[in-house]
Amino acid sequence: MSAIHRIIIDCDPGHDDMAAILLAAFHPSIEIEAITAVCGNAPLVHTADNALRIVDAFGLDVPVYAGAEAPLLHRYAFPAEFHGPSGLDSAGQGLPPARSQLQTQHAVDAIIERVEAAPGEITLVVIGPMTNIALALALRPSLAQKIKQVVFMGGSATEGNVTPAAEFNIWADAEAARMVFRSGVKLVMFGLNATHQTLMRREDVARIRQAHKGSNPVADIMDFYCGTYYRFAGADKPGAPVHDPCAIAWLIDPTIFDLVERPAEVLVGADGGYGQTLIDMRPQDPSHDARIRNVAVAIKADPNRFADLVTQALVWAAGRISANS
Ligand code: BDR
Ligand code: CA
Repeated sequence: MSAIHRIIIDCDPGHDDMAAILLAAFHPSIEIEAITAVCGNAPLVHTADNALRIVDAFGLDVPVYAGAEAPLLHRYAFPAEFHGPSGLDSAGQGLPPARSQLQTQHAVDAIIERVEAAPGEITLVVIGPMTNIALALALRPSLAQKIKQVVFMGGSATEGNVTPAAEFNIWADAEAARMVFRSGVKLVMFGLNATHQTLMRREDVARIRQAHKGSNPVADIMDFYCGTYYRFAGADKPGAPVHDPCAIAWLIDPTIFDLVERPAEVLVGADGGYGQTLIDMRPQDPSHDARIRNVAVAIKADPNRFADLVTQALVWAAGRISANS
């Protein structure tokens, strides 16, 4: 049995955010202590509501907190093209309306309080823009030494998606990401260079649908996500990249990924570079290298083991929602 990871999931659900939450809920080595929502794929009112819907629909006993309504400086129109206007649109039946309520405490305060109550124990899994984490570190810089690690989906060592250079989560609040990168907190990065290797294949969605005939909101939601990707990237593609579950999959089974420790910075200037993660991938001999390798960067994934793990979790979730509705 692998180690138990106590985690807070900071997210902007989001189809792949939902898959990440369900993978964490599915696996016995993960304990989700809280879910904190941030604006990103959609306005906060939707991402927080989607997080509550997920918790309720799948019967997860996890408190949900709402966080930042806006990035620190960057202003953009919340995108609807990948996740739909709600942030969690479906090709069929979506998740039912939430029954439970958001916690009254702000997400940033909840993160601070929970990390300070268990120094060195809590992993932050950040799968949306880094606004909440940057605010927590601004209020309490000492948190950087108390957070066990920040495992995040964002950035890229190669191509971007929202611009040629930048990945969405980092671009959405590059100032926040820069603060986190410079904070001294331990960082583990799953960027597009890795997540473009981790596909939800057509046969995986078919397996989820087959496992639960009749109403299957999990398969419907993944169909919406993959369908959008095929319209954008080409119908010939064997699958759609599911980014966010990579962070959880690595906690469950680190052997699925190869990582390298590298110096990294977030660019906040103009000229098309805003939001780029600049990873120094030049070969370095550690014995005479004074640069600080502040980020462990995933560079390679085992696509089959990843897809099997995520599909198993979503099959489990599809059964759980029918039992819970
Ligand atoms: C990231 O952006 C969002 O659309 C996804 O949920 C993921 O976190 C991929 O660039
Ligand atoms: Ca996300």
